[in-house]
Amino acid sequence: MSAPVRVAVLVSGRGSNMRSLAAAAGEAYAIALVASDKPEAAGLAWARESGLATFARSPRGIGKPAYEAALDAALREASVEVIALAGYMRLLSDDFVARWRGRIVNIHPSLLPKYKGLDTHARAIAAGDDVAGCSVHVVTEELDGGAVLGQAEVSIVPGDTPDALAERVLAAEHQLYPEVLARFVREGAWREG
Ligand code: GAR
Repeated sequence: MSAPVRVAVLVSGRGSNMRSLAAAAGEAYAIALVASDKPEAAGLAWARESGLATFARSPRGIGKPAYEAALDAALREASVEVIALAGYMRLLSDDFVARWRGRIVNIHPSLLPKYKGLDTHARAIAAGDDVAGCSVHVVTEELDGGAVLGQAEVSIVPGDTPDALAERVLAAEHQLYPEVLARFVREGAWREG
C-alpha cells in the first residue's frame, strides 16, 4: 500500500471543514500542513493545539507575491502534494494556481455552477430554489469554476434563513469533503498532469 498523500489545508477562519478533514486523515491522506493568511484564525489555533504543522502569514504589508512565495516555500518544505482549501477566503493568483495545476481543491457552499462567489445561501433563497448544497471542485484561474468532483444537496425549507441553511449545508460539507478528498488522492489524477 502506498503512503498517504501529503495534504495541506488552507484556512482563513474557524476551520470546521479542516477539522473534519483532519478527523478523516489516515490511509488515503495525511495533513502535512495547515496554512493561513490570517494569523489570528481560530482554525489555526486548533491546528497548533492538535500538534499539526502550521504556517501563518498575512499578505498585509508584504504584498500578495511575497506572501504566496512564502506559502509556496512552506508547502514545498512540508513535501505537500495536494492543497485543500477549507474556508480560505483569499483568491490565489493565476501564477500560484499554475504552479499547483490540478493539485488544488476547494469546498464551496453551493451547487456549482450555481452561485459562485459569496452570499450563496441568501442568493439561493432569494431565487426561490428548493434545493441548495455544497460542491468540492478543482481550483483553476476561474473563480469557483474548475471541474466538480462531488456535491451534496440540502433542501431549502419554507421560512429558511441564510444562517439556518448555512448551518445545514455546513453539516453536509463535513461529510462530503473528506470523502471526495480521499477519492481524489486515491485516483491521483494530478500525477499525470
Ligand atoms: C464553509 O461553508 C465553506 O464552504 C465556505 O466557507 C465556510 C468555511 O467554514 N467557503 C467559501 O465560501 C469559499 N468560497 P469553516 O472555516 O468552518 O470550514
